[in-house]
Amino acid sequence: MTGVQEQPSANARKAATAARMYDYYLGGIHNFPADREAAEAVIAQFPFIRDAARANRGFVAAAARFLAESGIKQYLDVGSGIPTVDNVHTIVRGPQPDARVVYVDLDPVAVAEGLEILAGDERAVAVRGDLLQPRAILEHPEVRRVLDLGRPVGLILAAVLHFVPDHATAEAVTAELLAALPPGSYLVVSHTATESFTMIGRSPAAEDVYQRRTATPGTVRTRAEVERLFAGLELVEPGVVWAQQWAPGTAADQPQPAGPGGIWAGVGRKP
Ligand SMILES: C[S@@+](CC[C@H](N)C(=O)[O-])C[C@H]1O[C@@H](n2cnc3c(N)ncnc32)[C@H](O)[C@@H]1O
Repeated sequence: MTGVQEQPSANARKAATAARMYDYYLGGIHNFPADREAAEAVIAQFPFIRDAARANRGFVAAAARFLAESGIKQYLDVGSGIPTVDNVHTIVRGPQPDARVVYVDLDPVAVAEGLEILAGDERAVAVRGDLLQPRAILEHPEVRRVLDLGRPVGLILAAVLHFVPDHATAEAVTAELLAALPPGSYLVVSHTATESFTMIGRSPAAEDVYQRRTATPGTVRTRAEVERLFAGLELVEPGVVWAQQWAPGTAADQPQPAGPGGIWAGVGRKP
């Protein structure tokens, strides 16, 4: 994988994007000066954000492995971001060597990097798509080519619903995607937690940076609000818990107090 080409004159003017800021938090190389500057502004306010990004990525890996071990052979990862280590397709092909994966992201750079990594792979692709337009994602010719929507799919919405500020819209787009998938499909969600900001006595002002500097303003949600995204699904134990604590089949204890930068995480199965 090659990094984003640095062309200072052109790239210096590029607006930041959430995908490239996240890549920067994770220590990646796929970001431009505006992304680094905006990300540093968030880090200055919330120094724990890098740990939160890593915890989120660890949850995505654990959930993807669980789905593959549960027999899921197809994945739709919306808001997939710039492919980093522990790509979903690499993880799920351990238990499911023929697994098929579609990565969807709003950011054309994330899609371009995905296409480069997946070149020559007939069973995985990256496409540009907007979570706010679920039908367009479901009808995308590449989604239809790679995935058989008549068979169970692992739908991954990791750290992306916090770019859908309106609760009703977040629930509606999640439900619309799930409605197109058959019983036995899974939903994987991670989401920045309101509670962890309350705990440290700060408002989630980081979203101001996203609001001002990117095209995807952010929001946070409580545990109850995240649980509502799983309406109609069977929550896999331990339910919605902190990303670091999610492990399939473990007891649904009261969640430990969040450290700063808490991310709610859960997996549900469509009955
Ligand atoms: C924080 S990253 C998460 C990456 C990956 N899912 C993970 O959890 O490691 C959020 C991603 O969501 C994408 N995104 C934001 N709004 C989106 C939308 N409306 N539709 C699709 N992708 C979106 C951003 O471009 C970014 O790549």
